[in-house]
Amino acid sequence: MHPDVIRVLLTKEEIAARVKEMAAEITRDYQGKSVLMICILRGAVLFFADIARAIDLDVRLDFMAVSSYGAGVSTSGEVRIIKDVSQPIEGLDVILVEDIIDTGHTLQYLKRLLNNRNPASLKICSLLDKPDRRETELEGDYVGFRVPNEFVVGYGLDYAEKYRNLPDVCILKPEIYLSAKNKKC
Ligand code: IMP
Ligand code: MG
Repeated sequence: MHPDVIRVLLTKEEIAARVKEMAAEITRDYQGKSVLMICILRGAVLFFADIARAIDLDVRLDFMAVSSYGAGVSTSGEVRIIKDVSQPIEGLDVILVEDIIDTGHTLQYLKRLLNNRNPASLKICSLLDKPDRRETELEGDYVGFRVPNEFVVGYGLDYAEKYRNLPDVCILKPEIYLSAKNKKC
């Protein structure tokens, strides 16, 4: 286990099993259709790669990047598009793939933005959901795990760009982000 984490919350085996179930559900729901999966960079990238491979449909992949927390652990509610999708989405069945729904601001913003482009449908698929932190009405359509209100890293999720390559989802020691905060003051 990495020395900066308190404990493993979700093992790579638990994640792999749940990703398989979610992929099976999506495959059933979209039978006979093709889907455009959009990865929200960078946190969702490992989840995206795994779930896309497990979905048995005609799948296209695209990417978006939005401004994130930087080195902090809470959201400002302001979202900025850093990279947009590379094609029009009008008339397409779109699934937005995210790492975690926290306050919901990021996905609420993206959902509005993309719905204005008239896709045939738009659904949200998130590995994690932290419902206690929600500040919006936003809900995921496909959610891997509901997690407690703790800062988690690994399997794509970062703190200050670190820990994304840990294979499990782990709870970060609060002193890691608290000490960074103190240094800034
Ligand atoms: P929201 O706009 O508050 O829902 O924020 C969603 C984004 O915040 C995610 O895409 C993550 O990048 C980040 N985030 C929220 N909670 C965590 C966490 O526990 N660990 C790592 N990143 C997080
Ligand atoms: Mg993210």
